[in-house]
Amino acid sequence: MAKRVLVLNGPNLNMLGIREPQTYGSQTLADIEKACIADGKAVGLTVECRQSNIEGELVTWIQQAIGKFDALVLNPGAYSHTSIAIHDAIRAVGLPVIEVHLSNIHAREAFRHHSYVSPVALGVICGLGASGYKLALHALAEKL
Ligand code: DQA
Repeated sequence: MAKRVLVLNGPNLNMLGIREPQTYGSQTLADIEKACIADGKAVGLTVECRQSNIEGELVTWIQQAIGKFDALVLNPGAYSHTSIAIHDAIRAVGLPVIEVHLSNIHAREAFRHHSYVSPVALGVICGLGASGYKLALHALAEKL
């Protein structure tokens, strides 16, 4: 049976295409999600995509991934830098998570240099734009 991957995007990522294209690129979230489904399929993964601006909703979806998904690709947006709740949810479910950022958070403001998600992630990809999601899915296809 195909492995199932949940691709989760956090706050403001629904604004992609409009939001700071010089930093985040010109693709919309719909473009990225469509590519994730196709890229996943190409490597034998069934991909479902969701986005929320609400921290608790992301926490709930991470919790509910148990038994439904084999791994997650997560761009937590600004919650990367603030959310102990998302960190705890990832620890609680014990599923492999690849953290993705479109921009290179280490080359930006100091407040973006720390991520609460990174210590509980299987791997972290940042600075490669939308390709980061594809790379994450390819890595999961190899690992799962
Ligand atoms: C981001 C980086 C975060 O610092 C920022 O708050 C975002 C997007 C990225 O994909 O580069 O919303 O996660």
